[in-house]
Amino acid sequence: QDSAIVLGIETSCDETAAALVRADRQVLSAPLFSQLAEHAPYGGVVPEIAARAHVEKLDLLVAEAMAAVGIGFADLAGVAATAGPGLIGGVMVGLLTAKTIALVNDLPLVAVNHLEAHALTARFVAPELDFPYLLLLVSGGHCQLVAVEGVGRYRQLGTTIDDALGEAFDKVAKMLGLGYPGGPAVEALAAEGDPERFPLPRPLIGTKGCDFSFSGLKTAVRHQILALGREAGREATMRDLCASFQAAVGDVLVDRAARAMRSFRADHPDGRTLVLAGGVAANRYLRQRLEAAAAGLGFRLVAPPLALCTDNAVMVAWAGIERLRLASVNDQAVPARARWPL
Ligand code: KG4
Ligand code: ZN
Repeated sequence: QDSAIVLGIETSCDETAAALVRADRQVLSAPLFSQLAEHAPYGGVVPEIAARAHVEKLDLLVAEAMAAVGIGFADLAGVAATAGPGLIGGVMVGLLTAKTIALVNDLPLVAVNHLEAHALTARFVAPELDFPYLLLLVSGGHCQLVAVEGVGRYRQLGTTIDDALGEAFDKVAKMLGLGYPGGPAVEALAAEGDPERFPLPRPLIGTKGCDFSFSGLKTAVRHQILALGREAGREATMRDLCASFQAAVGDVLVDRAARAMRSFRADHPDGRTLVLAGGVAANRYLRQRLEAAAAGLGFRLVAPPLALCTDNAVMVAWAGIERLRLASVNDQAVPARARWPL
């Protein structure tokens, strides 16, 4: 019922997070530790460093979450943890912690698919949002269009055939010496730049299906930087490069999402919502482009607030709540999975 409280745990990448969420959508506490500073010197997430940092921090964050609310484990309705897909060392840390808490306190355990957690976040922020809806999931590890037909009922309409979109942002940022993660830095520079200065490819635009490709775009940016030489290091040039890159990405997303919306509408005449999720959904320019494209096709865009777009434990707890409602729980034997398609 509404007063049920679920503990969520997220450790699949470089965020260590715990959250206590009530079934009536109240976030009771949600401490989060970002390992950014630990990975930044390496220009990307180092799996072994991530796993060790999760071990160091997770217990403390869980204790902090519980103390902030003043409840004990026995007061929980269940424990939910990301069980994949993700960096396996980190996933094991989170899942094992959840299993232990569940076992010792005789609580239901939910092994959450991280992608499902991103997918269901929209129902956490928009209580009236019913199935089915169309999901565009764009993160550091994923880029896919999914018809969400129910909890556990997902149909993939398209996916990336090479890089994830966040990865492309991060690589472009790296080439420009902007540090890691690159998405926010690229967006900030792009805001002041000329999106038409550099002609860049729009991979797969106009082709059948809803798949994505970003490696050719990334390579085109590299060639552009090489051709520019030292000029590429100038602030004004970097702004124009970022703006041109972001505009190309926008065109690709709009083209692919529009195709998906048309096909989705044919299958589900009353499904008129496009949900944007994943870390790249934090990008304001891309949100605006997709919002306009959706409106043009009679869809509304639901995009969670930034803190719920990037990795967090609130979405994991919420996925746990959705699963518990359906009595879809797991036993202690459930494995941690590096790969786990929706
Ligand atoms: O969902 P997320 O936190 O982690 C994964 O599950 O992958 O997404 C992280 C990704 C990174 O690649 C980061 O550069 C990207 O999201 N990102 C952005 C922005 N903020 C974060 N990309 C573009 N624009 C942004 N404002
Ligand atoms: Zn994620």
